Amino acid sequence: MLDKKDILFFLKTEDSAAVQELVQNADKVRRTFVGDEVHLRAIVEISNRCVRNCLYCGLRRGHGALPRYRMDEKTILSLGRRVAELGFPTIVLQAGEDPSWSAEEIAGIIEKLRLQFGLTVTLSLGERSANDYKIWFAAGAQRYLLKHETSDPELYRRLHPDLSIENRLRCLENLKQIGFQVGSGIMIGLPGQTLESLSEDILLFKKMDIDMMGIGPFVPNPETPAPKLFGRFLFAHDPEELTYRVIALTRLVTQDTMIPATTALSTVNPHRGRALGLLCGANVIMPNATPPEFREKYAIYPKPAKTVQPIEIQLKKIRELLRSLNRTIATGPGHRPGRRAAVG
Ligand code: 5AD
Ligand code: SF4
Repeated sequence: MLDKKDILFFLKTEDSAAVQELVQNADKVRRTFVGDEVHLRAIVEISNRCVRNCLYCGLRRGHGALPRYRMDEKTILSLGRRVAELGFPTIVLQAGEDPSWSAEEIAGIIEKLRLQFGLTVTLSLGERSANDYKIWFAAGAQRYLLKHETSDPELYRRLHPDLSIENRLRCLENLKQIGFQVGSGIMIGLPGQTLESLSEDILLFKKMDIDMMGIGPFVPNPETPAPKLFGRFLFAHDPEELTYRVIALTRLVTQDTMIPATTALSTVNPHRGRALGLLCGANVIMPNATPPEFREKYAIYPKPAKTVQPIEIQLKKIRELLRSLNRTIATGPGHRPGRRAAVG
């Protein structure tokens, strides 16, 4: 296995032949361990309210100008029906940290999505108590996404005035113990981030036996303090290019995991971001099924207009892309190989 020194070498190197070799090896490992199938998950952004104040994110509570929404159950279920009809095996319910959702309310929605439409349910609802996570697992949710963003404790503190890396890692451990397949992830190119800390992030995925990892470039949002506070050009590397390397290294180190070609990648490179992610070791795509009237308010960072399309069009483009790469769309719930479904 690659050790920290090897990882740092590939993060740093300016030798394009070495980078090419890295990518080819990651692609080979991807094919051996998870095959040519690409798993699709439909994201529904159920609320853009957030009680946190992360310095880089447009949903932060300090962004007073952002109109907020919270979908009702009927809307979420009708979107569930739609994504199931389109053939998505998995729905991802995503929101800012919004304690106004009671654990029971979400549990009711999970059960209906599962029983009425046969969907596998993934949650991405932030830090909650272990008890809430247990209620959601008992209701049949099988996966949970909670990115650790950066494992550099000092950088984490600066970017998250009201969160701690210790608690974030504790939540990930709780989720794992309860039985969820757990997704973490990081942003690449954060102001003040070092290649050293990125190598630690990759090793942490392995150490914690994380099942899924969302790896995307940091996209500066002018409506947030992060770009102003830290400046735009402190990071010496191109976040997009570095993201491909980190995806490839993560594939090599973790082998049989689920790695999406992230939305942030297609935001910084609408033409090729997804394709390049898939060529560097990714095996998941998460198109956005949130209707436009809500989606424009889920403004984590500025989105180029062409990346905001109805789900049907996104699906058509994904089919074309996968055909061009000789990859297929996976059927079945799309668990990490070797992780059996605990429920439903
Ligand atoms: N650039 C890239 N990703 C971001 N996120 C939040 N703000 C940004 C940004 N400016 C991602 C974080 C977080 C999720 C809500 O969105 O990784 O987990
Ligand atoms: Fe809220 Fe998540 Fe954005 Fe932080 S990153 S402000 S917790 S939505």
